[in-house]
Amino acid sequence: MIATTTTGRRRKPETFQLEEDPLWYKDALIYELHVRAFMDSNADGSGDFRGLIEKLPYLQDLGINALWLLPFYPSPGRDDGYDIADYNNVNPMFGSLGDVMQLVREAHRRGIRVINELVANHTSDQHPWFQRARRAKPGTAARDFYVWSETNQRYQDARIIFKDFETSNWTWDHVANAYYWHRFYSHQPDLNFDNPKVHEAMFKALDFWMEMGIDGVRLDAVPYLYEREGTNGENLPETHLFLKELRRHVDENFRNRMLLGEANQWPEDAVAYFGQGDECQMSFHFPLMPRLFMSIRMEDRFPIVDILAQTPSIPDTAQWALFLRNHDELTLEMVTDEERDYMYRAYTQDRLARLNLGIRRRLAPLLGNDRRRIELMNGLLFSLPGTPVLYYGDEIGMGDNIFLGDRNGVRTPMQWSADRNAGFSRANRQRLYLPVITDPEYHYETVNVEAQQGNPHSMYSWTKRLIALRKRHRAFGRGTLELLRPENRKVLAYVRRYESEQILCIANLSRFLQAVELDLSQWKGLVPVELFSSNEMPAIGDNPYFLTLGPHAFYWFAMQPRAAPSIQSDGAQPATALPEVRTAGGWESALVGEAKERLENILLGYIPQRRWFGGKAHMGAQRRRRRSRAAV
Ligand code: GLC
Repeated sequence: MIATTTTGRRRKPETFQLEEDPLWYKDALIYELHVRAFMDSNADGSGDFRGLIEKLPYLQDLGINALWLLPFYPSPGRDDGYDIADYNNVNPMFGSLGDVMQLVREAHRRGIRVINELVANHTSDQHPWFQRARRAKPGTAARDFYVWSETNQRYQDARIIFKDFETSNWTWDHVANAYYWHRFYSHQPDLNFDNPKVHEAMFKALDFWMEMGIDGVRLDAVPYLYEREGTNGENLPETHLFLKELRRHVDENFRNRMLLGEANQWPEDAVAYFGQGDECQMSFHFPLMPRLFMSIRMEDRFPIVDILAQTPSIPDTAQWALFLRNHDELTLEMVTDEERDYMYRAYTQDRLARLNLGIRRRLAPLLGNDRRRIELMNGLLFSLPGTPVLYYGDEIGMGDNIFLGDRNGVRTPMQWSADRNAGFSRANRQRLYLPVITDPEYHYETVNVEAQQGNPHSMYSWTKRLIALRKRHRAFGRGTLELLRPENRKVLAYVRRYESEQILCIANLSRFLQAVELDLSQWKGLVPVELFSSNEMPAIGDNPYFLTLGPHAFYWFAMQPRAAPSIQSDGAQPATALPEVRTAGGWESALVGEAKERLENILLGYIPQRRWFGGKAHMGAQRRRRRSRAAV
């Protein structure tokens, strides 16, 4: 869009400068989507890159600053694109390489970084490497691109992951006359990482996208790269050596890039994917996710506190990726048998919702479409240590369809409006890659972006405010965590601290009113300022701090010095801790791109807390306050 200046001259929209910051992922808000599911620009029933580019203003307005794209490469599509047939191309159904380049350019212009997928563990059986391998002579490099065996009895200690679909990790290939190894579907043969040519091929695949400007890469199924007899074939030392090699390669050749490991493992094993700061910069915290759901169901903070206690500290440059839901089932691999039984009982009234070792549901249906519980879960997601990853559609509380098979029920088209096909596509509705949600409770005619954008109280508007609030406080992305232990176990309380910022987060996990007494003695004399409203609470004194919390309420308080009169009698400013803005270049660099956005965010939070701003007699201040609230 070309904007017009007051003098009538047309000017180009401001180009967003991405900051030169190797730790950008710490302040990121990642939005996960499948190109196929987001927006169809050519009425063929499937989303595409042009559709996504058209919707970038929506994402920018929502406030996210990183986009994670599920696999969009040529593929037979038997595992929704995770069965790759060509690493360096685009599935023609979604567009062309030129479209991807344009997406990256346009996203960057809007301050959004782009993360794609490197599925290194396996390919599709249609990949030319596999077709060549099955015909190649045993012992040749071409054959050894994959893992072959004359028997199906090797590596018996490796578990079967897709246990609803596969009975063995070996499948017989009648062309090769041998078994091949696969940790997932039998049409996804595992690459053989003992073959150095496979390493080379992966480096090449990665370089291809990084040269195109991709900012980060999710390393799919990364624990399973190697197989060794007598082990479960997960997290092997060889895998970590490969990751160190990969990281070195990225650091030597590119700037400000990020590797995100998908390691569905217990905390101590997941932490290993950070290495000593020399493997992945980010890794998903899989065990925390189901425990958030357990805690809110049990109305007890124990599952969360327990898993956080089991989570070792991580290198300074490392960051957890936190999520509530994604494109897969809510996996229950990283819980005990008892916990799994509990989760199934609590969250799958309909048995059809179970899949493999998990539950195939979206966020809103999991939480009974209860707005309070959805907000609380997001409040935890946004304030626990890590970077939040949002799944497309959850910002409007989209429903799912457990009757669609595999994980398709959580991968239905994005709901833009009440128009035909939810505004997602102009195709004949029978042509859609999956039907839109028409369940009475989540029907696209009511649950859609357009309807919610018109309502300041909608899930969408609330999510947008939450995102804006989080972006104002770096403590959420970068701060330390200190758990408080009030006697009432239905209340979870912790402090996030970064530089001069200290934020107290409190959550009522119960559906009923709760009272809590917090020992805040180390903050004696400070004033908790509630972040959504900028309201000051009573100062912290000698006694335990007493609060009552409404059902599923959560609050974030900035711990601040008591507001002194804004101008002292001698004209000096009071000595309060001021937020700092650091810039790489001169002061002017604080007025462009991401730095400008950060400065604006700080001012939006800081100014309303000044006494002169709240002064009743000051009409200008009131007008500004109304505007600043409207802006968030
Ligand atoms: C990852 C993906 C999942 C896929 C599997 C096999 O777990 O998240 O969707 O099916 O890898 O590639």
